[in-house]
Amino acid sequence: MKIVSVVGARPQFIKLSSLSKELRKKHREFVVHTGQHYDYELSRVFFSELSIPKPAYNLGIGSDEHGSQTGRMLRGIEEVLLFEKPDLALVYGDTNSTLAGALAAAKLDIPVAHVEAGLRSFVKSMPEEINRVLTDHVSSLLFCPTPTSVKNLKKEGITRGVHLVGDVMYDSMKENLAVAEKKSRIIKKLGLRKNEFYLITVHRAENTDDRSNLKKITRIVASLDRTTVFPIHPRTRKRLSELGFLNQILSRDNLLLIDPVSYLDMLLLEKNARCVLTDSGGVQKEAFWLKTPCLTLREETEWVETLGDGDNRLVGLDAGDVTKAVDSLDELTLGGSILRKGRDGEKFTRAGADARISQIILRFRKERC
Ligand code: UD1
Ligand code: UDP
Repeated sequence: MKIVSVVGARPQFIKLSSLSKELRKKHREFVVHTGQHYDYELSRVFFSELSIPKPAYNLGIGSDEHGSQTGRMLRGIEEVLLFEKPDLALVYGDTNSTLAGALAAAKLDIPVAHVEAGLRSFVKSMPEEINRVLTDHVSSLLFCPTPTSVKNLKKEGITRGVHLVGDVMYDSMKENLAVAEKKSRIIKKLGLRKNEFYLITVHRAENTDDRSNLKKITRIVASLDRTTVFPIHPRTRKRLSELGFLNQILSRDNLLLIDPVSYLDMLLLEKNARCVLTDSGGVQKEAFWLKTPCLTLREETEWVETLGDGDNRLVGLDAGDVTKAVDSLDELTLGGSILRKGRDGEKFTRAGADARISQIILRFRKERC
């Protein structure tokens, strides 16, 4: 099977990293990078650190309005597909690169396989929700990470080609955690102590593009009572600076506002943090698997399986609610009997998603021949 993997943004490189290795054992795979993310810290660092095969094509699309960005990707990907004639297009997650890859392939009658199919926030104003729904509806193979994602597809009438395979990000994490423990120097470099710092990430459009929400995030950062590590997405830095909030944030004591970190560094930060605060999908899951409490700075999550006291809690953007939630961490962890340590980190996922996906693709090929 000749497979094209279309990627373009940070979490997609991480999803691709372990899956690509598995695919290449049985298939011919090549990578198209749309260029949606282009800064070293958001793109190249992952390819070198995780030994991801160099993209055969980098379309260099860069940042733009959603329609123009997606449209230019569509055109670039179509050209590659016409030339390479792959048997299957693999797309990942829910970014504009995902949708462009799926549409370009579907229009050329090339079967589409969607990794992380069926996730829903049920919030249509989220660009990611549009990307997910449309991608799922043109996909022939739908690789679901969670039981909920299978149910979501069923409700939309999609049952054919649906496979509950587990989460490729879990495989990537498992593969890289021991390496991170060995190689990453981030904890020492930042002078951190285990369970004594908070880790925060923010990048969602609804949080960065809305002035009042960004102000609330500034208040949350100001309210945190311990050392806080904030590897800041360039989008968030830019908006904070434009709106004049960056200096407020920087005036806070014990804030380590740093550039986005590599995956190995991120895993160690997540593992050693007292608590993670985030609006990221991937970071919520990794915190859950690493048994670090997570406060999600949103009103809803696609990853409902992670929810529960001591695991992941939806706190929204009210600084008072965040303070209460942070204070209650003490109760949850009293006497060293950390609730989260008692529960099954694999309750919603199984290792081996990569191998299952590769196998299903092989079967798909046989059925078509
Ligand atoms: C994108 C995805 C989001 C995903 C996130 C992962 C869409 C609609 N959004 O959001 O689902 O969770 O990636 O991180 O696809 N920028 C840089 N350097 C870069 C890339 C971006 O400075 O290398 C800045 C630009 O100002 C750009 C802004 O970030 O306009 C937003 O970038 P974009 O790729 O549109 O969205 P993300 O917020 O990164
Ligand atoms: N990540 C990283 N460095 C950072 C922030 C995040 O390596 O500075 C990793 C994180 O460990 C996870 C993925 O990026 O694997 C999540 O991506 P992101 O938050 O950008 O997007 P989302 O998952 O919300 O789509």
